[in-house]
Amino acid sequence: MIPFKLNNNIEIPVIGTGTNTFGKVANNYNGELTGDTTPLHSAFELGYRLIDTAISYRNEDLVGKALQETDIDRKEFFVTSKIPNTPEYSGNDEKVSESVKASLRKLQVDYIDLYLIHHPLESSERNRAVWRILEEFVDSGQIRSIGVSNFNQEQLKDLIDHARIKPVVNQVESHPGAWNDDLIAFTQAQGLVAEAWGPFWGVNEPIIAALTPIRQKYNKSWAQVILRYQFERQVVVIPKSHNPEKQRQNLDIFNFQLSAEDKEIIKAL
Ligand SMILES: NC(=O)c1ccc[n+]([C@@H]2O[C@H](COP(=O)([O-])OP(=O)(O)OC[C@H]3O[C@@H](n4cnc5c(N)ncnc54)[C@H](OP(=O)(O)O)[C@@H]3O)[C@@H](O)[C@H]2O)c1
Repeated sequence: MIPFKLNNNIEIPVIGTGTNTFGKVANNYNGELTGDTTPLHSAFELGYRLIDTAISYRNEDLVGKALQETDIDRKEFFVTSKIPNTPEYSGNDEKVSESVKASLRKLQVDYIDLYLIHHPLESSERNRAVWRILEEFVDSGQIRSIGVSNFNQEQLKDLIDHARIKPVVNQVESHPGAWNDDLIAFTQAQGLVAEAWGPFWGVNEPIIAALTPIRQKYNKSWAQVILRYQFERQVVVIPKSHNPEKQRQNLDIFNFQLSAEDKEIIKAL
């Protein structure tokens, strides 16, 4: 898997595993925590190295546990976490600092590869203030790259204009029915990597039917076609599955290429 390069020259795997329901009863986002690292270990064994967690998923310590349990070198992993936009976590400089330190502690790592502002704060001033603290953690080497998530064009531009360290990523919703093309194009035009969250949200019977002739042509699944589409437009994907076979499938997208006509059909979904 050839990685994409971030604007700070650090490489990011093009596929990662989402984690937002890992280690939770009934794979329910709000479910009680189980401490079960099985889906993370199957992902690691299959070759996933980018792990996408967040403070709000309540499972940074699960990721930390899995990283401790595995024999794979920490340096091989690309760990992403995210700071919430709520006062409890990012209400002032001290809280931001405490949040980052808690993430480092729970993940049991010396550095986090990518730390994102999970959602924009209430004003551009607040976004900039949080950013300044994150920049200090980059200076100290405890975070390697910083970025944002769910920022619109205006919010992203403001941050870029005022940042000392440019954001490297904007992680945004992108899937059939809500590809978010304009925001992704803007993000990329600003020199950032776009990451798609929820790549399979919005998939329904009509969408599966529309993808069927395409997937049959390449002998792939509809999920693989969707992920390949994002890859071909340089968008990092973080699909999540609790099922090892689907995890495997979601990595197996590098031996076919969509035609221009296929891409027109997919774009219109
Ligand atoms: N930044 C943000 O605001 C934000 C928001 C939402 C999500 N995220 C991140 O993005 C990640 C991905 O989003 P998500 O977990 O909500 O949804 P998703 O990756 O779109 O997956 C949705 C469902 O699709 C199923 N699936 C996975 N692979 C499949 C395949 N090959 N064929 C058929 N079904 C398949 C999975 O069910 P099974 O487990 O049954 O396979 C999963 O529950 C999250 O885990 C999280 O890390 C970020």
